[in-house]
Amino acid sequence: MSRILIAGCGYVGAATADVFQQQGWEVEGWTASPESAAELSGKPFQIRAVDITDYAAVKDAAVKPFDAVIQSASSRGGGADAYRQVYLAGSRNLIAAFPRGPLLLTSSTSVYAQSSGEWVTESSPAEPERETGRILREAEELVLAAGGTVARLAGIYGPGRSALLRKFLAGNAVLDAAGPRVINQAHRNDIAAALFLLVQQLLAGLGNSAERPIYNVADGHPITDRDCYEWLAAHLRRPMPPTVDAPAPRKRGDSSKRVSSEKLRACGWTPRYPTFAAAMRDSILPNLECLGA
Ligand SMILES: NC(=O)c1ccc[n+]([C@@H]2O[C@H](COP(=O)([O-])OP(=O)(O)OC[C@H]3O[C@@H](n4cnc5c(N)ncnc54)[C@H](OP(=O)(O)O)[C@@H]3O)[C@@H](O)[C@H]2O)c1
Repeated sequence: MSRILIAGCGYVGAATADVFQQQGWEVEGWTASPESAAELSGKPFQIRAVDITDYAAVKDAAVKPFDAVIQSASSRGGGADAYRQVYLAGSRNLIAAFPRGPLLLTSSTSVYAQSSGEWVTESSPAEPERETGRILREAEELVLAAGGTVARLAGIYGPGRSALLRKFLAGNAVLDAAGPRVINQAHRNDIAAALFLLVQQLLAGLGNSAERPIYNVADGHPITDRDCYEWLAAHLRRPMPPTVDAPAPRKRGDSSKRVSSEKLRACGWTPRYPTFAAAMRDSILPNLECLGA
């Protein structure tokens, strides 16, 4: 039986663990805290609290070999220091402790700083303006140099999670008077399916060897924030958010681009939720009661 370690068994990691488990893999999931591990104790696979920023802890926990390791831990909204710890030190520790299991890192499409609404592919410049983005790029290079794969995730949403919807419902949403911003999203379940596919591909040595194993994971139907809010306003029968002159800066930067996922689609990935409307209608609005971050 193939074995996978999901280091960072959170919103995306737990859904990904479910996919691997359903496909007959033996799964082990790690969280940072014992509390999060306890919350997942009902899962049909092993969950442990192991801090990936602590090499001794990772080494101690690395008792069994894995066929592959997914590093999907998040900085939980932290700044540059947290990024250095979780993404850089975390990836380095996992590579050192599991030299045989190739690593798949969940990075972010925020590494593309493009701001004119242009399409970006994996070969477009990825030159983030913020320090956090530059640290993420460093972690990506570390993983690629070790023979791993990088999945650049767009804004994650799904059951219980949509930052846009949460802001809209709380009355905190605003539109920028300077014009709409193009945003890119991916449904949690589609991300989990993509990570499963990429691990299989990594293990089979598939893919175009002339290209670096970097894959954008986005639904491929970018949408402006204005269009999202218009959809929500119409479907929830609520007023549009106000337009303001200088909205607060966004954590992941002020980029505005259209992220292509053609490379991943060419590998056989077809998102179940290819648009904002499909995800909202079929998955997120029916699960409104647990809307979190
Ligand atoms: N949010 C977005 O829209 C977005 C967009 C692009 C990319 N991403 C990336 O996608 C990945 C998955 O995000 P997510 O939303 O699923 O994250 P999440 O829900 O915040 O879950 C993160 C998981 O990582 C664990 N973790 C954090 N630090 C750890 C450590 N030092 N050692 C071991 N485990 C640790 C957490 O455990 P605890 O619960 O115990 O803290 C939690 O289980 C992350 O890499 C994130 O940066 C996110």
